[in-house]
Amino acid sequence: TRTLELAVIAGDGIGTEVVEQGLLALDAALSGQDVVVHPTAFDLGAKRWHATGETLTDADLAAIRTHDAILLGAVGDPQVPSGVLERGLLLRLRFALDHYVNLRPSRLYPGVTSPLSAPGEVDFVVVREGTEGPYVGNGGAIRVGTPHEVANEVSVNTAFGVERVVRDAFARAAARPRKKLTLVHKHNVLVHAGHLWRRTVEAVNAEFPEVTVDYLHVDAATILLVTNPARFDVIVTDNLFGDILTDLAAAITGGIGLAASANINPDRDAAGKSVAPSMFEPVHGSAPDIAGQGKADPTATVLSVALLLDHVGLPDAAARVERAVAADLADRLAHVGRVRSTTEVGTDLAARIRG
Ligand code: NAD
Ligand code: IPM
Ligand code: MN
Repeated sequence: TRTLELAVIAGDGIGTEVVEQGLLALDAALSGQDVVVHPTAFDLGAKRWHATGETLTDADLAAIRTHDAILLGAVGDPQVPSGVLERGLLLRLRFALDHYVNLRPSRLYPGVTSPLSAPGEVDFVVVREGTEGPYVGNGGAIRVGTPHEVANEVSVNTAFGVERVVRDAFARAAARPRKKLTLVHKHNVLVHAGHLWRRTVEAVNAEFPEVTVDYLHVDAATILLVTNPARFDVIVTDNLFGDILTDLAAAITGGIGLAASANINPDRDAAGKSVAPSMFEPVHGSAPDIAGQGKADPTATVLSVALLLDHVGLPDAAARVERAVAADLADRLAHVGRVRSTTEVGTDLAARIRG
């Protein structure tokens, strides 16, 4: 019997609601398989911060590191200064565990209504760089609060960091039927970082000659995501552009309640063992506007569980979860106007996964 050591960070707001359903889906997906999940809940987020002032201690991090994977709900709370939990907990995890591939698939499932009138067949994946860009905290401010305030957030782009995520994106493109990679940046203005990304894509393309490459400035990419999303296969982009584009991608493929993500550290040691656990979470946040009301759609978290299963080498279980979600989404068309609670959707999904 194989065991799966799972660190669970439910976090804040709807995070706790959707993670509960994600765990039900995970159990259902592994029923009848020779795999046992050992979940360890970590008390992290607003409540812990209010009680202790801590976001993520070294001891928490060390404990989380020993797990095979992490399932995260969402962090962020209106009662906590903006940025404290986002940086101190979520980004700290992504940086410390070197989650340089932030994988965000977007697929318009049959039966799902898009706000676009003629979206076509939408099925692309954004490979968002996860450890660099303006997120690194290389910034500062002087004369704060005065009319002469200066506030800087420097975007950090290293050859090492860009190359490793670009190579990962190429490998993903090469493994897909259309074999197409779109670099999204803004090298007409951000000439230093932009040209590093452009040159890196050109260089790595030599290793993947079967992949067709094109380029869009990020502003133009937002147009095409709305007017012709079917044109995209794999997008590779920096941390901040990827954040923004994937909320838009979610919106055109049925909403933020369906958008899943994986924060992956693909690196392995000499023995072939993963160097750090990867982390799986919905793209959405803690949604304080609907928290505690049972209104959150847990589908994004359940699809993140599918990404988790795939990552830990259980593709059949992952496929069961995805098929169940696809069936549930197709069924929504037959029940327009029906409103299900978070737990109702979760229970329906778990039942479908069990088959
Ligand atoms: P949000 O994603 O939490 O909410 C945006 C909108 O989408 C809201 O109207 C919300 O009700 C809706 N929504 C989100 N998830 C939904 C779901 N599963 N089902 C139905 N509707 C859903 O983004 P925000 O309002 O900008 O941020 C709220 C807090 O979450 C902030 O503190 C922010 O920093 C944090 N945040 C955390 C993460 C994360 O933990 N990964 C991601 C984004 C935002
Ligand atoms: C996301 C979120 C985070 C990000 C925030 C909360 C740090 O928006 O996961 O998309 O910007 O990466
Ligand atoms: Mn985001």
